Amino acid sequence: MKITVIGTGHVGLVAGACLAEIGHDVVCVDNDPSKIEALRAGRAPFFEPDMEAMVQRNQKRGLLSFSGVLEEGIAHSEVIFLCLGTPPLPSGEADLSVVERVTHQIATLADGYKLVISKSTVPVLTGDRIQRTMEVYSGRKHEFDVASNPEFLAEGTAVFDFLYPDRIVVGVESERAEKLLREVYEPVVRQEFQWNLERPCPRDGRKIPLLVTNRNSSELIKHASNSFLAMKISYINAIANLCDKVGADVTQVAEGMGYDHRIGPQFLRAGIGFGGFCFPKDLQAFVWIAGKNGYDFRLLREVEQINAEQVDSFLQKVKDQVWVLRGKTIAVWGLAFKPNTDDLRFSPALAVIEKLQEEGATVRAFDPKAMDDARKEYPSLTYCGSAAEAAEGADALLVLTEWPEFREIDLKALSKKMVRPLMLDGRNLFDPAVVREAGFEYCSMGRP
Ligand code: UDX
Repeated sequence: MKITVIGTGHVGLVAGACLAEIGHDVVCVDNDPSKIEALRAGRAPFFEPDMEAMVQRNQKRGLLSFSGVLEEGIAHSEVIFLCLGTPPLPSGEADLSVVERVTHQIATLADGYKLVISKSTVPVLTGDRIQRTMEVYSGRKHEFDVASNPEFLAEGTAVFDFLYPDRIVVGVESERAEKLLREVYEPVVRQEFQWNLERPCPRDGRKIPLLVTNRNSSELIKHASNSFLAMKISYINAIANLCDKVGADVTQVAEGMGYDHRIGPQFLRAGIGFGGFCFPKDLQAFVWIAGKNGYDFRLLREVEQINAEQVDSFLQKVKDQVWVLRGKTIAVWGLAFKPNTDDLRFSPALAVIEKLQEEGATVRAFDPKAMDDARKEYPSLTYCGSAAEAAEGADALLVLTEWPEFREIDLKALSKKMVRPLMLDGRNLFDPAVVREAGFEYCSMGRP
């Protein structure tokens, strides 16, 4: 099928490359010329495992191309995925101005039937708005459909998540839209594609469930899923706080809970809280749209509150150990909002660092992937060539992103190079016994 993807951010580029990989003829459009130039040269604008190789392979196969001209994208196909940014406004409301502008352009430029599919996370009822915009500006010259097809991929496993999803959700209002979307996803549903990922493929002959709903339900499924996951994290963080008070171990509590298949073991890792460009903004937007429609989502407001407090309670732990921060050198391992990504957006690590600096500490930082962007945004940090180098001469070492390679570092040797071998592990990455054995004082989240 010919497919157009508008927007080459995390959702758009992964979708575009994967749709080409499963056999479609895809054009990805973006209005940033430097991105298009880099992508044509086979370079992805962000780090994502498998991504660049897939972009290069499918350009060579002639199934993937990039364009800076929206008209070209619109003319290329009937099926148009909108993968546009929906950043938060100060009120928490999602800013849908780009979605509106692009829809308007599609309506005016379309030369025949178009299926406009919103793939990035949008508040419920956005599809209705897109529909209305299409009606108003197309002059009803051509038929069109508007559908919702939320993307559930997580950064760092995005390609994997696209090819092996737990489910595909399509929200449609016509049979024609349903038929086209079923056709788009047929190779994923049947698991008929060639790409072999670095990590083991779970292909086991099962068909991937494709759920067809109406458009509003589909939009709600996305917000409801993300908020539920965020709620799990805040729940376990609340339990971790209680564990700290009563001397219990949150990792054991989470394990014990997770064996119950109704609860499941995922998203029960306590720490300094969730970040990234999805959970914080999607929660805010969900609370906002619920409020606008007459429902006060108190539960989710509490989820946000608990998440914000995690950074403060971690900082309090640091202060309890270090006492005065002014004049101290604090080493920080990890800047990205989670491992396997270079994404710094809404990273709790940066929230901690900002507060350390406000209190007058000098911060020596290391992150395996996110330092280039961090240098631009936070020029006052000292950036180090390795995790070990960051810790040298420091009064305390803070683990803020759980990069697995930090576990490989020789802690015994490191403890001798610090002014005070004190580790505060905001992600419960380390085994307390191992760290203490290496000569460190050790504090973590919700573990004795
Ligand atoms: C998330 C959803 O997982 C994905 O389905 C959706 O499409 C986009 O939002 P992502 O933001 O890439 O994906 O990251 P995710 O792996 O979900 O982690 C989000 C944040 O929660 C990270 O800061 C992570 O460190 C934190 N987290 C996650 C925890 O603190 N504890 C956990 O148990 C899990």
